[in-house]
Amino acid sequence: MQIRTVGVLGCGLMGSGIAQVAAAAGYKTYVREVVDSFLTSGMARIQKSLATGVEKGKRTAEEKDKTLRNLVPTTNLDDLKVCDIIVEAIIENVDQKAAVYEELDSIVADDVIFCSNTSSLCITELAARTQRPDRFAGLHFFNPVPIMRLAEVIRGLATSDETYNKVFAFAQSLGKEPITAPDKPGFIVNRLLVPYLLDAIRAYENGLGTIEDIDKGMKLGCGYPMGPFTLLDFVGLDTTYYIANIMFDEYREPAYAPPPLLKRMVLAGRLGRKSGQGFYKY
Ligand code: 3HC
Repeated sequence: MQIRTVGVLGCGLMGSGIAQVAAAAGYKTYVREVVDSFLTSGMARIQKSLATGVEKGKRTAEEKDKTLRNLVPTTNLDDLKVCDIIVEAIIENVDQKAAVYEELDSIVADDVIFCSNTSSLCITELAARTQRPDRFAGLHFFNPVPIMRLAEVIRGLATSDETYNKVFAFAQSLGKEPITAPDKPGFIVNRLLVPYLLDAIRAYENGLGTIEDIDKGMKLGCGYPMGPFTLLDFVGLDTTYYIANIMFDEYREPAYAPPPLLKRMVLAGRLGRKSGQGFYKY
């Protein structure tokens, strides 16, 4: 089966980015949200990112228009019945993901591959909640999806060689550099990134320096594009807290334990850029 048509479930920050890169790579791309308002804001995000890409000379106006023509926003799951591969990027909740997989299983053909963009849930468990565990894999993108070149491909216990190879090749066809990651919390990147971010918070709590100086230190001293607190605000403190808890549950090592300040910031609604305040004000 050749992949011609892509389905993306969810048009949030990650889903809209995935839909954008799929459409830009020439795939007819159906992107599905539950309500029109989410779809409208996701499509606006895509329009803005494409327009910025034109401004920065990364693509032509014609390429932008072609990408937009390849996109089919929808709230109707039935529309995805024509898709060859479906990438799910909805809320990080096993039961909610499983509910959509169940519906999709009855709509799409048997050879259609399901991928999840989950950053922390167990791929083997998600696959087991479908009728096609051998045709299921993790495909984890990085924020901002249109810019970050990496994708992690994760095999569940039941993922077939054929599925793994197709998903890897699919990631390459999107212009990404895929790497193979194990089905363990954090995969490769978050397994290393999250303890670093948590450690920055712990170090700050222990008086290492100001937030600004710690950020400046890592940015100018190590050439990181963002210091840890800027990155925490960018990723979202709730997202980081959630991933840290899943990693701590599995590994039981202090490096993954969310620091008290992170928990309190989440409880206070200071989630980072998206809420207008995190370690910085926006
Ligand atoms: N379309 C295409 N290209 C674009 C673009 C767009 N809309 N916007 C910017 N670019 C290009 C620029 O032209 C530039 O390309 P160049 O290097 O060839 O000149 C490059 O992207 C960087 O752009 P800018 O320098 O203008 O943008 P910034 O300085 O604002 O950088 C950033 C933005 C790319 C987000 C950078 O700060 C960065 O890399 N930050 C770290 C992001 C990161 O770590 N993400 C991973 C988070 S963890 C995650 O996602 C996992 C999850 O599970 C939690």
